Amino acid sequence: MAILPILRMGHPVLMAVAAPIDDPTTPEIVALVDDLVETMHDAPGIGLAAPQVGVGKRLVIYSVPEGRDDTGDEQPLTMLINPEITVLDDTLEEGFEGCLSLPGMGGRVNRPTHIRVRALTLDGTALDYEAEGFHARVIQHECDHLDGILYPMRMSDLSSFGYVKEMIAKNDDLD
Ligand code: NI
Repeated sequence: MAILPILRMGHPVLMAVAAPIDDPTTPEIVALVDDLVETMHDAPGIGLAAPQVGVGKRLVIYSVPEGRDDTGDEQPLTMLINPEITVLDDTLEEGFEGCLSLPGMGGRVNRPTHIRVRALTLDGTALDYEAEGFHARVIQHECDHLDGILYPMRMSDLSSFGYVKEMIAKNDDLD
């Protein structure tokens, strides 16, 4: 297990399409997942994709803490290998996002609210489930990393993009 350095926006691996994983059960993938989990918890973050640590493979992990989802539901630590997303409701909802590859920054991104996810687990069995709201947002954000897409590239209005500390300072001024 190791905490790996997280690449920042601009690094070529983050801007590239990642390769599918042929066999999720290899020791190499098991070790990569261990490192991703440790790195995500250390950051801390709620999601991490393999390209963010310089590995161009289609693997993401996430866990949504209690209270962060619209439903308040906690989502357990989940590993998705070769994930595929189908949009079930293309109604867009705007929500605030940040990313460990753009430390200190955030912005509002429109995303579909209801998706279906198909992926493999670490033991190679198939996952097939639906996700809504913030849970769906997290999965879409992480899976975008596998296609070289970072959230600012999804923003329709860059006026909400910036440094979170400055945004908080601005809000305090209004009090
Ligand atoms: Ni990210």
